[in-house]
Amino acid sequence: MPKKRSDYVCQQCGYHSPQFLGRCPECGAWGSLVETIEQLSTPGIHKSLIRTNKLPEIINTISLESHKYQRLSTGFSEFDRVLGGGIVAGSLVLVSGDPGIGKSTLLTQLALNINQNPSSNILYVAGEESAQQIKLRVERIKLNSSLAVLNEVDVDIINQSIQATKPSLVIVDSIQTLQTQDLSGIAGSVGQVRESANRLQQMAKSLHTPIFLVGHVTKEGTIAGPKTLEHLVDVVLSVEGDPTTSNFRMVRSLKNRFGPTDEVGVFEMDEAGLKEVTNPSKLFLEQKVDAPGSAVTAVLNGFRPILLEIQALVSKSFLPIPRRSGNGIDNNRLQLLVAVLSKRLGLPLFDQDVFLNVTGGMKINEPAADLAVCLAIVSSFKDKTIPAKALLVGEVGLLGEIRSVRSLDKRINEAKKLGYTSIISPKNAKSLAEAVSLALK
Ligand code: TYD
Ligand code: MG
Repeated sequence: MPKKRSDYVCQQCGYHSPQFLGRCPECGAWGSLVETIEQLSTPGIHKSLIRTNKLPEIINTISLESHKYQRLSTGFSEFDRVLGGGIVAGSLVLVSGDPGIGKSTLLTQLALNINQNPSSNILYVAGEESAQQIKLRVERIKLNSSLAVLNEVDVDIINQSIQATKPSLVIVDSIQTLQTQDLSGIAGSVGQVRESANRLQQMAKSLHTPIFLVGHVTKEGTIAGPKTLEHLVDVVLSVEGDPTTSNFRMVRSLKNRFGPTDEVGVFEMDEAGLKEVTNPSKLFLEQKVDAPGSAVTAVLNGFRPILLEIQALVSKSFLPIPRRSGNGIDNNRLQLLVAVLSKRLGLPLFDQDVFLNVTGGMKINEPAADLAVCLAIVSSFKDKTIPAKALLVGEVGLLGEIRSVRSLDKRINEAKKLGYTSIISPKNAKSLAEAVSLALK
């Protein structure tokens, strides 16, 4: 009889602890540790020690054909690009995101696109919704289709079905609803989620069938979050956006064994599903008005530059500590840039609230946008407009100097394509003071 031991496992990230902790030291989630019984295997010879005939392979002799390293197009060029050129045979792709962001919509559309090819058969495993609900969604997207839907939560039955029907693509919505009878935990616990994903991965690799897993980002500790699977899968995609303020949805690759990471695909949600946005720069700048506090920058997502508008509002504060609040920018970065502006330009911001917004629901996470953030603040403070068709790119250092950024020419070329003629970058401005005199003459 194997020994049993009690263990506390974080349902968000899978951290193990021998005792209960209120906060997970690994991922910082509160109340996420749940007691689980761990089965200890009986001591003895490990199976792998018995297998001795496995020899290493020489790289030159490995044929890619036999490994079926072929890519399947999703019918969305934006999505293909994020994947690094399409879906790789046998890959396990995790699509994570907040509930209601559009994961099911995106994957249903992808399935419908691929299913238009008569030789493909797609299996949509619905653990969360009934087949009728899927049909309603399909009708909303308005594509007549013969998509196969399997309403099942037992991963072993799902695997049998995959084995029997040999689909060209499997979509599992969602991994947190799956379970196996071999484990005692409830569906959604770390053990069940990991084991289900593991069994699906073995099926994917043995049949060379790509499998998409939907994973909800969860706030409460009882359901395992997608973080518990990130090391296991080949690709992690995250669907981002703010449904309350914008229809734009960004699909970002956080991990990709077959392509670049941090690549972003842009989509727009309307009543008939998601539409690709192939020229996001143009769309993000469509509603720009030339007024004090508005500046345009180019950020790099993966290999593609995207033009964005940054808006700042500087107004007299009536609080003892004035506010610095940003939407789409890291607040620490904003604080730092405000401090640099105060010290290096002598801007009296000590009694001013500073609000910042990146339009279109995008997030900026590279210092190349610093110069535009600074100039938007100066422009709002001085109530002077930055000329239309001016692009601001550059990292701002603590000494007020403008530092170079990667792929500057790529960003400038994207701006020129959209008619931006006045470029302010480390090429023509070495300090914040110089940049201000160029932009706000
Ligand atoms: P859904 O794909 O169900 O989200 P998730 O699987 O990530 O939980 O979609 C959520 C939202 O998308 C829902 O509020 C309705 C909206 N939606 C549209 O606006 N248009 C559509 O065509 C569809 C299918 C959904
Ligand atoms: Mg869903």
